[in-house]
Amino acid sequence: MLSTPFFVFCLLLTTALIGVAGEYFKPFNVSYDHRAIVIDGHRRMLISAGIHYPRATPQMWPSLIAKSKEGGADVIQTYVFWSGHEPVKGKYYFEGRYNLVKFVKLVGSNGLYLHLRIGPYVCAEWNFGGFPVWLRDVPGIEFRTNNEPFKREMQRFVKKIVELMREENLFSWQGGPIIMLQIENEYGNIEGAYGQKGKDYVKWAANMAVGLGAGVPWVMCQQVDAPEFILDACNGYYCDSFRPNSKKKPMLWTENWDGWFASWGGAIPHRPVEDLAFAVARFFQRGGSFQNYYMYFGGTNFGRTSGGPNYITSYDYDAPLDEYGLLSQPKWGHLKDLHAAIKLCEPALVAADSPQYMKLGPQQEVHVYRGNITQGLTTAFSTSKSVCAAFLANIDEHKAADIEFLGQVYTLPPWSVSILPDCRHVAFNTAKVGAQTSIKLVDFNLPSSKMNVPQPLTFQDEVTYIANDWMTLKEPIGLWSKNNFTSLSIMEHLNVTKDKSDYLWYTTRLYISEDEISFWEENEVSPELSIDSMRDLVRIFINGKLSGSAKGDWIKVVHPIQLVQGYNDIVLLSETVGLQNYGAFLEKDGAGFKGRIKLTNSKNGDVDLTESSWTYQVGLKGEFQKLYTREKAESVRWMKLTPDATPSIFSWYKTYFDAPVGTDPVVLNLGSMGKGQAWVNGHHIGRYWDLISPKDGCRPCDYRGAYSSEKCTTNCGNPTQIWYHVPRSWLQRDQNLLVMFEETGGNPYKITINTISAQTICGRVPETHYPPLHIWGHPDFINGKISINDMTPELHLQCEDEHTISSIEFASYGTPQGNCQNLSKGNCHAPNSLSVVSQACQGRNSCSIAVSNDVFGDPCRGIVKTLSVQARCLPSSFARSASM
Ligand code: GAL
Repeated sequence: MLSTPFFVFCLLLTTALIGVAGEYFKPFNVSYDHRAIVIDGHRRMLISAGIHYPRATPQMWPSLIAKSKEGGADVIQTYVFWSGHEPVKGKYYFEGRYNLVKFVKLVGSNGLYLHLRIGPYVCAEWNFGGFPVWLRDVPGIEFRTNNEPFKREMQRFVKKIVELMREENLFSWQGGPIIMLQIENEYGNIEGAYGQKGKDYVKWAANMAVGLGAGVPWVMCQQVDAPEFILDACNGYYCDSFRPNSKKKPMLWTENWDGWFASWGGAIPHRPVEDLAFAVARFFQRGGSFQNYYMYFGGTNFGRTSGGPNYITSYDYDAPLDEYGLLSQPKWGHLKDLHAAIKLCEPALVAADSPQYMKLGPQQEVHVYRGNITQGLTTAFSTSKSVCAAFLANIDEHKAADIEFLGQVYTLPPWSVSILPDCRHVAFNTAKVGAQTSIKLVDFNLPSSKMNVPQPLTFQDEVTYIANDWMTLKEPIGLWSKNNFTSLSIMEHLNVTKDKSDYLWYTTRLYISEDEISFWEENEVSPELSIDSMRDLVRIFINGKLSGSAKGDWIKVVHPIQLVQGYNDIVLLSETVGLQNYGAFLEKDGAGFKGRIKLTNSKNGDVDLTESSWTYQVGLKGEFQKLYTREKAESVRWMKLTPDATPSIFSWYKTYFDAPVGTDPVVLNLGSMGKGQAWVNGHHIGRYWDLISPKDGCRPCDYRGAYSSEKCTTNCGNPTQIWYHVPRSWLQRDQNLLVMFEETGGNPYKITINTISAQTICGRVPETHYPPLHIWGHPDFINGKISINDMTPELHLQCEDEHTISSIEFASYGTPQGNCQNLSKGNCHAPNSLSVVSQACQGRNSCSIAVSNDVFGDPCRGIVKTLSVQARCLPSSFARSASM
């Protein structure tokens, strides 16, 4: 028998151990078998949501994580951003948007798991793929290959992160949320370029990672030669035909690209949710067990974090949560339904070692998962129950198909999968969207200080400019400080700037004789400046005047210039717009100019300027003075800008503004500006640019058939980005400082400040739609007391948090026509539609209405009826005052 003191000691020890272990879960083990990730001895089907913490603010994180969970995610996935965590070699930063520990803890406290992709190369459309730019300067370094200096740095950083996570008790076996890690990123795609050294590097990276003793599995994505002890995983639009490189590993999908990123001057890609759901369903159908949305929330490339070349500031990605963290509907809702359906299948999916496959037509196939599960607490009292789940797929891009399965006929729309959690009833079909759509509108809100009484939002056509007072300051062209140097060569851009700025000035002086001038006049030619190869943008100034600009990715530039007799000042401004983030040999890529710089069409042939005396100046004066901070902005002398002033290039602008009332996300419309950067209260909100995407190229989008990033694009003929997110937490009530650096001469007087919200929401559900998924958990259904055929489908509407359905703008149960914002009644219409729906929904944040004759009466016998509703959402405070 245990003595009391010993028992007390044990108790104390146990409590102490639990105290030391994480606060989020009871410590648990993570392993895997050929079928799935195994959590605490149980195989799991896992849905993961990609969120990159620095692409949002810590104030946004709780709601992003909560909305991911509500959408059905079990796991949050993020990269770790080395360049943000170690901006200066040896000096770590883990604060603010880079507070990784805080982010991981939030994930844990929401009861979600975390997949931490350390990289530390991450790609991610992030500047330099996540590498700090100082890494290039480590002597003898070659990135991502069997190179000692690189391996040393990589190991140091990876170890730092693993140790940080361990110290904070964030691994699963410590009761933390981390169930999986990642080393490297898609190295297999470029491994060939490195020959044997690449192969050795893969082995080294794998061993190094595992050697850190993190105690959870490591993944290498897109890595067919990942060693036996590392999981390999697929990235892409579809991964159902992916098979891991060992029979002992499960089928994992680390990046399901649910949209795509955009470039300056390009259109905006969208991926239809029917196709996305199809891809996910196909993956689980064919044996998949872990699937991550890249991205579930894309967010914003604040500051100069955007990769490139040339990626825009928004990283919306057409993700289920939009750039501001609002639900992107119907994407979010349709995926939520899909996840619920997959979860209903989970017992069968994990019980079966592999599915039974049936080909039921040329492009129709079924996978059935069957097994037994034990129920009950102890082995003595447990019972065994058989489970069955089936996925019915029609891969035909054009035609619907009727297929017979277990004695029943199922109609499958083209390019769709039906999910049958009990092998009998359809819980979900990927092409039938029952989730609501939402139309987001920008409001020209009145600033808080001018608003005493809350007003209904009727300002949509009333433009409110951000400010009536603007101050300006000129940025010097060329040299602006003593901190410059001269070299008899054209130096590579990054070698000089170390990426402390986008801008690098090259200045030289050139003597032109009278003869030369007459030669050009007589022959009617003009001299040209030629640069062999250039990225991302060059501006050519001759004798203080802008002569021209060119942009491109390692393009040749030939530009006519005007020179005068005597000395001519030639100033070249080289600009980067996000450093390369993908490909082999990144360290060699560099930026700026390559090859020779010449003056052509000269009397005696070309004049090579490459070895002339060039004086270098890094960055802008205002940038290095930190003009965008309150202290500096208030201590230098600005000039008043008049509204009718002609736009001038290379100028700084400053104003103060009041924050819009309410909690809706805030955006600036910078559509009137050219190219530059903007700061609010010292926070760098990103680069802006007015490049317009080509007029043609956007086509109406059909979800059917294989998706690619060019397939479904919008916004052709418009500027790629005009809305710039200003996170609420960066704003105060009034007197917010906006500072902008403008290169080409925009008009700041036309800048507006707005809020974004989903004001119009629509739902459309036919009476033949499958019943809501929560029915499956209903005791009467489980006990077989009611059949699924007795249950009715529901239309569900929901406004964003802190918003209320203020009115029902349209409702028709019958045969309504048209799409959201353009709805009309059909021949058949139940006259009580509007009153029934209003009664159920008005004044609430969300509502559900059963779609059946029981609710509306039967307006037309023998015809399949649909309920279609359009509602308006208003901030709850407005909705209250509006109804008063
Ligand atoms: C993948 C890469 C990601 C991201 C994605 C495109 O190849 O692993 O980091 O860049 O492409 O968004």
